[in-house]
Amino acid sequence: MTTDQNCTSSRQCLCSETAPAPFVLVIFGASGDLTYRKLIPSLFNLFQRDLLPDKFSIVGCARTVMDDKAFRKLVSDSIREKFKNIPSKMIEVFCEGVFYTHGNYDSDETYSALSSKISDVESRHSGFAGRIFYLSVPSTIYSEIVRKLASSGLSPEPSEGQPYRRVIIEKPFGRDLQSSRQLEKELKEHLLERQIYRIDHYLGKDTVQNILMLRFANMIFEPLWNNKYIDNVQITVAESIGIEHRAGYFDKSGLLRDMFQNHMLEMLSLVAMEPPSSFDADRVRDEKLKLLSSIKAWEPDKISTEFVRAQYREAIVDGNKQQSYTEEDAVPKDSKTETFVAARLFINNWRWNGVPFYLRAGKRLRRRVSEIAVTFKNIPHSIFKPLMPEDIHQNTLVLNVQPEEGFALSIQAKKPGGKLCMGDLPMHFSYRDFFQGEPPDAYERLLLDCMLGDSTLFIRNDTIDISWTLLTPILERWAEDPSIPLASYPCGSWGPLEADAMIGKDGRKWRAP
Ligand code: BG6
Repeated sequence: MTTDQNCTSSRQCLCSETAPAPFVLVIFGASGDLTYRKLIPSLFNLFQRDLLPDKFSIVGCARTVMDDKAFRKLVSDSIREKFKNIPSKMIEVFCEGVFYTHGNYDSDETYSALSSKISDVESRHSGFAGRIFYLSVPSTIYSEIVRKLASSGLSPEPSEGQPYRRVIIEKPFGRDLQSSRQLEKELKEHLLERQIYRIDHYLGKDTVQNILMLRFANMIFEPLWNNKYIDNVQITVAESIGIEHRAGYFDKSGLLRDMFQNHMLEMLSLVAMEPPSSFDADRVRDEKLKLLSSIKAWEPDKISTEFVRAQYREAIVDGNKQQSYTEEDAVPKDSKTETFVAARLFINNWRWNGVPFYLRAGKRLRRRVSEIAVTFKNIPHSIFKPLMPEDIHQNTLVLNVQPEEGFALSIQAKKPGGKLCMGDLPMHFSYRDFFQGEPPDAYERLLLDCMLGDSTLFIRNDTIDISWTLLTPILERWAEDPSIPLASYPCGSWGPLEADAMIGKDGRKWRAP
């Protein structure tokens, strides 16, 4: 291993990555958008970084009729679209490991064809290879595919983990507590927990992983990380895009399912959990579970005050008209689906008792930004009379998840001028400036971890269960009680006035990111 001057330990640099053992990755839904935009570029970048083994195979599988050659063309288009100036030879070498088979996901023939394809490609690996099945298909057919993989003998592991067979799935993991439990039951009929890799792509982002480093590799934050020093925490995931071409999925889902059940609660748990004893999958996930289980459930009659749901409406943004949600293609004109949610929650434990956590996420907001802002309390007493403690700005630590990855700490400092002239001093760290480059795509990290059998950044079923336990009553209440308002906000704003009023009741404001 090499050492690097930026590394923590002078004894050992842990920045180098390990390449996994030979594998066959089967992508169901290989002709779809996720494969094209994310999976192929991420796999290719791992290849470029020498993080794929000499022997690897990627087998695309979908209903679209194509042969290996046509799929390789699609793969090379996706690579060229993402990366500039890649030598053709390099893409050709990568594509030598790319294959395709087509068929309906519910037909036995598809799995026999897949089985012979896998046998063919495995012979390239001297017969030994791990297998990963990536289900990039609607979640409604996960159970069917998993059943067929098992009955065709493709997914059972011959002996414990050797060679491994893993299945990657993405949200939605059901649409409420009951359906997620049903899905889990069906998966577990054919797979062991250790074979299931549930993706939340936010966990693959370097800046989200940095939450743990910042908290648990530094001494200066953790002693302050509690209700004695922290006034409130705000988590914002704002998107400037609308629902694009995803009306079919989004209108049935809504923002609470789409963003809160997963990304928002995952980020919350990393910010608020207790220190795990080690950076091992189960130790980290045990702490996340404990944290989520400590969130105070919302009383039914408080749901309408602790949650604001809203939908975007038409507005002129930067000189262009942006249409309302109900005017989007394939959205019913009378849709009541929320495109924005703001919520306030409390955590019932010694560390966080009394500290409000404000969460908001929405589509068509002013700009794309995801951040976690930790605001500290006012100083207890001011020596700078006539300034009172509340006249002196609170310190805020902002973890910028995207797009300007980094973090910023605002502190009070003397300004040039009068003796008591004081102001905010922003201390700002930017990943791009310091590390001179883009952080890798989240899928790269997650695919590599799955190949290596490291499930730390994947979600365990019990945390999904607890998040649905928390959110299902909200969804039910919204569905059952039409008197709970659906607010609206103009495209290009920071959300509805009702969200400002919600936080305003506590004498606070949303941060303007
Ligand atoms: C997905 C949601 O999980 O995350 C999308 O389904 C959302 O609706 C996306 O747009 C946001 O991800 P990112 O990485 O662009 O913040």
